[in-house]
Amino acid sequence: MTVPLLDLVAQYQSIKDAVMPALQSVIERQQFIMGPEIGQLEAEVARVSHAKHGIACASGTDALLLPLKALRLEPGDEVIAPAFTFFATAGTIHNSGGTPVFVDIDPSTFNLDPAAVEAAITPRTRAIVAVHLYGQMAAMDRLLPLVRRYNLGLIEDAAQAIGARRRLDGEWRVAGELGWAGALSFFPSKNLGAWGDGGMMLTQDDALAERLRKLRLHGGAKQYHHEEVGTNSRLDTLQAAVLLVKLRYLSDWSAARRERAARYSQAFAGHADICPPAVDPANEHIFHQYTLRVTRRDELAAHLKARGIGHAVYYPVGLHLQPCFAHLGYRHGSMPKTEEAMATVLSLPIYPELTVAQQNVVIEAVRDFYR
Ligand SMILES: Cc1ncc(COP(=O)(O)O)c(C=O)c1O
Repeated sequence: MTVPLLDLVAQYQSIKDAVMPALQSVIERQQFIMGPEIGQLEAEVARVSHAKHGIACASGTDALLLPLKALRLEPGDEVIAPAFTFFATAGTIHNSGGTPVFVDIDPSTFNLDPAAVEAAITPRTRAIVAVHLYGQMAAMDRLLPLVRRYNLGLIEDAAQAIGARRRLDGEWRVAGELGWAGALSFFPSKNLGAWGDGGMMLTQDDALAERLRKLRLHGGAKQYHHEEVGTNSRLDTLQAAVLLVKLRYLSDWSAARRERAARYSQAFAGHADICPPAVDPANEHIFHQYTLRVTRRDELAAHLKARGIGHAVYYPVGLHLQPCFAHLGYRHGSMPKTEEAMATVLSLPIYPELTVAQQNVVIEAVRDFYR
């Protein structure tokens, strides 16, 4: 039996009877841009994310870029971000005119290390981008006091973490609700995935929400009148229709991912060569990825490939070592925890439709490699 890393066809089969009529309805009305489904989706995603405003846009990348643009960064302004994340986290800092300043991660959660963040703050620091990697939230309780003390913007990169929760002062807080802005991605492989690109910005701030709504429409609230230079970054109505249907299943899907993660972690517990992902006790993880640390990672990857078992390395190169950021002057050794993660992480298939039989095949294949 082969097991894909992700099986979107299985998900499609389970929801197509609900999605197809929703798409048909958009097609019959022909309102492909800013149809009523956009406002409905914004309201519903904002509600589940505890945010006052949801502003849909064209991608998770734009959901980071537009709040960064709203900061009006000057040349030399610095934005702190983890070195271990998807490229968009830092590419958008560059593209909004800022300078990315990379910090190392907490090796247990793979999220940014608040002590490293504090050490990286300078008089030029304008903001922090906190990534909730693989589906568990960063230590927001330790980042929020820094943001207040140094008067910084805080953008949550919640692209992988829709609906993830963290207990702060005894209350559940949701990914995207705590920052000045939060960014969600609806890339098809995400826990809430569209049938194409899509994203959403979240904020509690009325003035920011108004600016973000303009920035996604070329910087104007009224057609052909532009207060600032924005861009075209709307979510298609068709995508909103897909997402509105899928959103009904999201919390069950996240619970199913957690169950599968628990099964893997039980199977690998105590194994000398395999370190299952740690969940911070304050967090409820949504397991966008199930990511092990292992010995002989590349050999294990080849072994899984030979058996037809999907797997991936997120991420093989830290952002501080990317050629496009060479001018920033980082070297091998600058971010030891990130570099260790680059060499040892391996993500296994995890999705709600993954069957017990499939999971057993994955578990046995991993165990066999180390026998
Ligand atoms: C951590 C992180 N940030 C940002 C993005 C960008 O999202 P998108 O692919 O929707 O532009 C992604 C997803 O690919 C991501 O995983």
